[in-house]
Amino acid sequence: MALKFPHLFEPITLGKTVFRNRIFASPTGFQNGDHLNLPSKELIAYYELKALGGAAAVTMGDCLVDSKNGRVTKVQFPLDDTNQKGPLSSLCKAITRHGAVASLELQHGGMYARTTGEQLGYVWGPSATMLPFRPGGSPQVKSDGKMIEVREMSEEMIEYTISRFGDAALFAKERGFGMVMIHGGHGWLVSQFMSSKTNKRKDRWGGSLENRMRFPLAIIEDIRKKCGRDFPIEFRMSGSECNPAGYDLDEGIRIAQMLDGKVDLIHVSAGNHEIFDVFFITHPSMFHEDGCNVKYAAEIKKHVKTPVATVGALSDPAMMEEIIASGLAVVVELGRQTLADPDLPIKARTGREDEINQCLRCYSCFSECDATCHFLCAINPVIGNEYEAKFDLSPKYKKKVLVAGGGISGMQAALTCAERGHEVILCEKTAELGGILLCEEQVPFKKKL
Ligand SMILES: Cc1cc2nc3c(=O)[nH]c(=O)nc-3n(C[C@H](O)[C@H](O)[C@H](O)COP(=O)(O)O)c2cc1C
Repeated sequence: MALKFPHLFEPITLGKTVFRNRIFASPTGFQNGDHLNLPSKELIAYYELKALGGAAAVTMGDCLVDSKNGRVTKVQFPLDDTNQKGPLSSLCKAITRHGAVASLELQHGGMYARTTGEQLGYVWGPSATMLPFRPGGSPQVKSDGKMIEVREMSEEMIEYTISRFGDAALFAKERGFGMVMIHGGHGWLVSQFMSSKTNKRKDRWGGSLENRMRFPLAIIEDIRKKCGRDFPIEFRMSGSECNPAGYDLDEGIRIAQMLDGKVDLIHVSAGNHEIFDVFFITHPSMFHEDGCNVKYAAEIKKHVKTPVATVGALSDPAMMEEIIASGLAVVVELGRQTLADPDLPIKARTGREDEINQCLRCYSCFSECDATCHFLCAINPVIGNEYEAKFDLSPKYKKKVLVAGGGISGMQAALTCAERGHEVILCEKTAELGGILLCEEQVPFKKKL
């Protein structure tokens, strides 16, 4: 049978590694570890689900290259802790045994390393300042109410940090990971060096773009030296910082040109995690058009030879096929869609695209994570229960189940019970299923919901 989405399912080779298709699972840093920050079984099952669903690469998000100086949250995974060896190898195996390439994102919070700031009373950035901002625009403060000092990194500190990236990449490679992603976007340390908004240095690490790019390029070189030329490196960047103080797409193009030929995949995102208004560009809401950030990747792709990936608000395989077929990008990366329905790749490949549950972009995943360090998805009850869902939960006895109410929860409860083999009666007092969604349906800009 001819494939409906031939471009989407054409394998691609990066470094010397073959990826089975063009759908990569973008990092969604589920930070469910134990008290030692070791990945839990739930976390491993969470990433396994993405591989099982057919993604070509599955990236574990926001892993720390320097746990003392770069920690944003208490629950990030430190790559400089040898206790991670066993659990990270297990996580890697859980991904690769389903044919996906396991990748790991290398991150350092720099001036936004809030937990480091809480612990040390200061953080490191390209330049000294006292007023780093948190999402929402409030100053970053210690729990005692004092401002946290951002110290300018010394030459030694810069060299040390570069080597932490290289060491972390080697640590990942030795655990079996087939690729690393340098987090050079969204306002974290690497991009703090790249952006003149945060990099005010007067030495060889600041000033001209060539100088500001010295830090990311040195990281890439260090990883190449330690992991070899064939080990694929994906570089995540913001195509534009999307705010007047940051760099624009023209400078994003120049940044990509400087990365060209030095990394295996240039992954073009947008915006900045730490600026409230721009957060919604980095993570488009349901009120944004599907594929609203593709324009950044598409423009950059015109100026580089290195393969370019796009990300943001992608849930429809027909649109993904079109993006690749028309040359706007060579890889599509899915974030929240891999929570809403990790089986998108396999469904699209086997002609079941009408069965795909498309992400609502409602932010339930984020809000739950903030509150409980667990993910939840408004339309996928498996998220948050991935480990339990790995096992056959068929009931010993078939029951007759009455579900009262045909709103979204009732409908999902009925589906889950039916899938488990029970006999289900779903009662709804009105003439139509849908509950509150029937009202939302009338609001044109809520069509996604
Ligand atoms: C819950 C959640 C966690 C995320 N964690 C990370 C992360 O650890 N590292 C990162 O670079 N991006 C992270 N992102 C951003 C995604 O990789 C992606 O760029 C963004 O969500 C836009 O893509 P989407 O519309 O397909 O979700 C996260 C996004 C979400 C929703």
